[in-house]
Amino acid sequence: HRDYKRCICTLGWQDCAKPHSGGMEDIMKEKMLEEFKKVYGGDGEVKVYFAPGRVNLIGEHTDYNGGHVFPCALTMGTYAAVRRRDDNKLRFYSANFEKLGVIESSLDELVWNKEADWTNYPKGVMWAYIQKGFQFDKGFDMYYFGNIPNGSGLSSSASIEVLTALVLKDTFGFETDFIEMALISQFAENKFNKVNCGIMDQFAIAMGKEGHAIFLDTSNLSYEYAPVKLDNAKIVIACSNKKRGLGDSKYNERRAECEEALEELQKVIDIKTLGDLTEEAFERYKSAIKSEVRQKRAKHAVYENQRTIKAVKALKDGDIEEFGRLMIASDTSLREDYEVTGKELDTLVAAALKQPGVIGSRMTGAGFGGCTVSIVKTADIDNFIEKVGKEYKDTIGYAADFYVADIGGGPVVL
Ligand code: GLA
Repeated sequence: HRDYKRCICTLGWQDCAKPHSGGMEDIMKEKMLEEFKKVYGGDGEVKVYFAPGRVNLIGEHTDYNGGHVFPCALTMGTYAAVRRRDDNKLRFYSANFEKLGVIESSLDELVWNKEADWTNYPKGVMWAYIQKGFQFDKGFDMYYFGNIPNGSGLSSSASIEVLTALVLKDTFGFETDFIEMALISQFAENKFNKVNCGIMDQFAIAMGKEGHAIFLDTSNLSYEYAPVKLDNAKIVIACSNKKRGLGDSKYNERRAECEEALEELQKVIDIKTLGDLTEEAFERYKSAIKSEVRQKRAKHAVYENQRTIKAVKALKDGDIEEFGRLMIASDTSLREDYEVTGKELDTLVAAALKQPGVIGSRMTGAGFGGCTVSIVKTADIDNFIEKVGKEYKDTIGYAADFYVADIGGGPVVL
């Protein structure tokens, strides 16, 4: 049993000191079945499923610009226990939102509403399946538990979506594959929950592979797995714990700025996306973009895409130092040109870069809060967590959380 600060075996957030034998999956399966019974009682077959969260190593805000991303799935994620019903009812319960209790709905009510709260995510996926021509004959009871910190920017919502997509495929015998499940989940997020996200999160989760990051070209969904070999270093995630509010509207604003910049560029050069441009081509044609702000946004999208391609090459060549330098350049660009960081993330990265053994550090995910990802020499991790933690608390006033990340696999039936 690993030293999880928030042990998943407790299905809670408290420290765990239990000596566990057996794999985490067995412990979780047993626990999920037990908790399912406590909430729903009754008999009948209950099945348990898991889908990971994700962290992006480099390639930020490129996925809706036809560029490349380089995320990986985490061993942290979301679990679900499910049992079919004989009627049309849908019952949802999450151990993460205990106070909300069982939230009930039905097959005839697959519309977004505020009261449905977090269940708009699973309901959105059901709705999306129907849009794609799949059908549900009966309802089900579902119990969720996630050990990804909520709202941390490690894609707890995409994890719920892809998990639900797998549950539904398995329960109703849908013929679909993991890439299609990622697309259905993104469609649900875009059209049902009205967040205009790209494909990165859902793809990284659906296609996760242990020990590997996914080099994905978002213009055509071609992808390649790259082993993440960091020698004597590990990936450390620092969670800012900043409550996000305006994030989503700013996200949509950045998207719109990039789309406008693309239209301006298309008047002078034949491209489909910003991802089609090299740095040189961008410099040559950038004057077509008529506002300084939009020029900065487009510059980030173009340069970040090229950085991602270079970073994957550096990793393949075993040049971790170069990978780290590119991560730092990515963060600078996200801070200065894309302007999606903020004081919390900037404090974490600045503090990280002062510590010994830090190879690279950057904000990850949408930004405006959420997490940073750093590559830190294993021997320096304790010092890193202590020093960065202290500087963050002194500057921001509340604590950050740290996770030494393990790169896990994709969604599974347990
Ligand atoms: C969020 C979105 C992704 C991607 C990132 C930024 O996580 O869901 O599609 O755009 O932000 O890289």
